[in-house]
Amino acid sequence: MISPGSIEQLLNAVVIEDVVGDYVNLKRSGSRFKGVCPFHDEKTPSFIVSPGMGIYKCFGCQKGGNAIQFLMDIDNMSYPEAARALAARYGIELIETGNRDDDEYKEKQKIRESLQVALDYAADFFEKQLHEAEEGKTKAMPYFKERGYTYETIRKWRLGYSPEAWEAFTQTASKEGYKPENLELAGLIKKRENGSYYDLYRNRVIFPLIGVSGKLLGFAGRKMSSTDPAPKYVNSPETELYKKSDFLYGIFQAKNAIKKHDKVYLTEGYTDVITLHQAGIENVVASSGTALTPNQIKLIRRFTPNVTVVYDGDTAGIKASLRGIDLLLSDDLNVRVVSLPDGEDPDSYCAKLGGEAFSDYLHLEEQNFIIFKAKLLLSECGDDPIKKSEAIRDILQSVACMNDALKRNAMNQELARVCQTDEALLAAELGKLLRSRNLKHEQDFIKEVKQVTTASGIELPREELTDVFQERALFRILLLHGDSPWDDHTTVSDFILKELKEDEQLLFNDEMCAQIVSQVKFGVWDKWPGQAYFTNHSSPEIASWAAGILSSGYELSKAFADNFIHVKKEEENYRNDITAVFLYLRKKKLDNMIKHYTKSLQDPETDVSDTLEMLNYLNELRSRVSKDIGGVVFTI
Ligand code: GTP
Ligand code: MN
Repeated sequence: MISPGSIEQLLNAVVIEDVVGDYVNLKRSGSRFKGVCPFHDEKTPSFIVSPGMGIYKCFGCQKGGNAIQFLMDIDNMSYPEAARALAARYGIELIETGNRDDDEYKEKQKIRESLQVALDYAADFFEKQLHEAEEGKTKAMPYFKERGYTYETIRKWRLGYSPEAWEAFTQTASKEGYKPENLELAGLIKKRENGSYYDLYRNRVIFPLIGVSGKLLGFAGRKMSSTDPAPKYVNSPETELYKKSDFLYGIFQAKNAIKKHDKVYLTEGYTDVITLHQAGIENVVASSGTALTPNQIKLIRRFTPNVTVVYDGDTAGIKASLRGIDLLLSDDLNVRVVSLPDGEDPDSYCAKLGGEAFSDYLHLEEQNFIIFKAKLLLSECGDDPIKKSEAIRDILQSVACMNDALKRNAMNQELARVCQTDEALLAAELGKLLRSRNLKHEQDFIKEVKQVTTASGIELPREELTDVFQERALFRILLLHGDSPWDDHTTVSDFILKELKEDEQLLFNDEMCAQIVSQVKFGVWDKWPGQAYFTNHSSPEIASWAAGILSSGYELSKAFADNFIHVKKEEENYRNDITAVFLYLRKKKLDNMIKHYTKSLQDPETDVSDTLEMLNYLNELRSRVSKDIGGVVFTI
């Protein structure tokens, strides 16, 4: 147990904005900081750090707490692990009671921990082999020197050497008491058919793979001779700690520079990162030679929205990675590109020019990604008009990935110039692409609204009669289209029932609707009983209610007058209508939440700045919902 007194001392010493700032790009906002929540997908920043109170809070997903909680949430640490990590960072000595054999320590022995211990041990081993052992000093050190790495660089990146003998590490580690099963789980050794083990990285120079918080996750071993037929790299297998798709090489060493310059250079190789760092360009990471993944992009956007991709100088490689870049665009990142002369990669070209000249080159050659792509694709079309129109469509796909309409328009103008095409034509073509893309974005936004309103615990307003029309519209759709498909797997009624069940506070005003909804919530029906169940119901009240709703009566036309539900093309539009009704109901909940928080401002117990922040966020959501409801109704 860590003594409560030393936890208090620790929390007093901790600078919460620094701890969180390692993971989230925070912008000052008054006496607090604001950023995009790292715990859930959002575009509208709703994540707040209050230095005064030493806490963080997300108004979107409701996660919040102190610095210890933050590390537990973001790095999956246990409470004592997080406390110890912070204590080490701020030079606080924690008073721990009980001996280290207690439950907590045993828990530490669990897989992740023991893997970590094994990895740290291995990193030490590989470093010692490089710096102290004769074999390393004569074989591996010259390799690094040949590449131009200084002693500081070799130490900074904890580079090492894994000896040529098949079991050098396996045996040393076993003598130290490490179990081979654990070493294998850590991705350090491999089992032979006969049950014995051998070193995974044998006869290779070692690049430790370090995660965003500075923890060692795995290794990459590079062969030293170009004539060696073995693969150039052996990388850590996926382990409990190392997930290739979440990892960016250099992120720990680069993150401060990325924040400072508000920009990251994205390269492909480990050696690109190391060479650029050594040359003084520290805001650089590598994607380990594969297409970017959504998690890697998430990691980048914690620190900056500005990404400059530095490509090796061969066209084939560039063309292969074009598609992946669209992911960056659709995540609202500003993407620029620098291409290098043929045959050069960032490592070789930086070494050739020197840091300063290379840095100048990057600044000078950097261009907008879409313009770069346009020039590249068009240069291959010659005068062929068919090829040219295909290229333009491909380019517009990238433009359509951008969410910001202003940026899209600006891009369109620029493209018209570069492609020598009519701007209106481009805009029309883009419009087509956007319509299909918007569907997906709409779903994301609706999810955010749903999450916030469901978590709020605040009910729908009970008094407003107008809601009745929306409610009845929903039941009309249920009665008419309950068995129609919602998507590939669910029917309309499945979907609606699930939505109703998921939100306790989604209560209805119309008496009959309310009754049916409560039956749904109680699980009276697993499946929607169907139209006939209601129209033929033995209770005349229910039967006539159903008939009334089905006969498309005056209530719906009133709703129609309300500019909301369009009755005419109902057949084709039930999906839009359902979405609109739920958005409408959730907007009502947002209204209520806004009322609730506004009222709470009069309570002296209320934290005013927190509440104002929350109100800001809710208002932003509400205005987007209003726009969306408009969009849903009028686009058809
Ligand atoms: P140098 O060629 O020595 O400059 O190394 P590099 O790290 O720049 O490698 P390269 O540009 O060839 O490849 C880029 C990245 O792709 C590397 O850093 C590795 O992450 C990955 N990679 C390259 N070759 C292999 C391989 O044989 N196996 C695996 N698993 N990954 C590789
Ligand atoms: Mn390279």
